[in-house]
Amino acid sequence: MRTTILILTLIAMVTSGLNLNAQSKKALIVYYSWGGNTREIAEQIKSITGAEILEIVPANAYPGDYDECVDQAKKEINSDFRPAIKTKINNLKDYDVIYVGSPNWWSTIAPPVATFLSENDLSGKTVVPFITHGGGGKAKCFTDMQKLCSGATITEGLAIRDSRSKSSKAEVENWLKEINMIK
Ligand SMILES: Cc1cc2nc3c(=O)[nH]c(=O)nc-3n(C[C@H](O)[C@H](O)[C@H](O)COP(=O)(O)O)c2cc1C
Repeated sequence: MRTTILILTLIAMVTSGLNLNAQSKKALIVYYSWGGNTREIAEQIKSITGAEILEIVPANAYPGDYDECVDQAKKEINSDFRPAIKTKINNLKDYDVIYVGSPNWWSTIAPPVATFLSENDLSGKTVVPFITHGGGGKAKCFTDMQKLCSGATITEGLAIRDSRSKSSKAEVENWLKEINMIK
């Protein structure tokens, strides 16, 4: 009888250990947001998954004026400029899953996100991309992100229209289920 209980306990321990999936992995949400829409989605992912969250903060803030910001972003993107960022992660090795969020800027990711991806080696990790946009959709955002994450496994990304960012929690939740980040 004792032996049977011992064997059953061992089987239970082994199978629960084998059941490690995305839901039990340690996750970090990293995002840049100029106007708040991408932050909104990042916060929704945090509230659904319980993942930790970290904002990418440029060393020099972008202009508060929209047109000035659009002009500066155009110049930076055209010259592949990587602005300095204040955000540093010392314990990247502790995370298996990194959510990476950006606004769509000129059909690609915002330069501070490109800086983050080039400064941090995400190889071996699962990268979960999400963007917000003003009507242009994902454009080149996910493919450009992928180019900067060599060696990482990239999941299907989520693109949310800016005007819907506050009311997209159900869509965010569905996407997280589809890509097996939550049950
Ligand atoms: C510099 C800049 C460039 C943009 N370029 C595009 C674009 O090419 N396509 C698009 O659909 N939206 C574009 N937008 C709109 C933003 O992608 C959209 O409003 C997004 O939700 C902003 O996210 P945020 O509030 O987190 O900064 C641009 C906005 C800015 C400020």
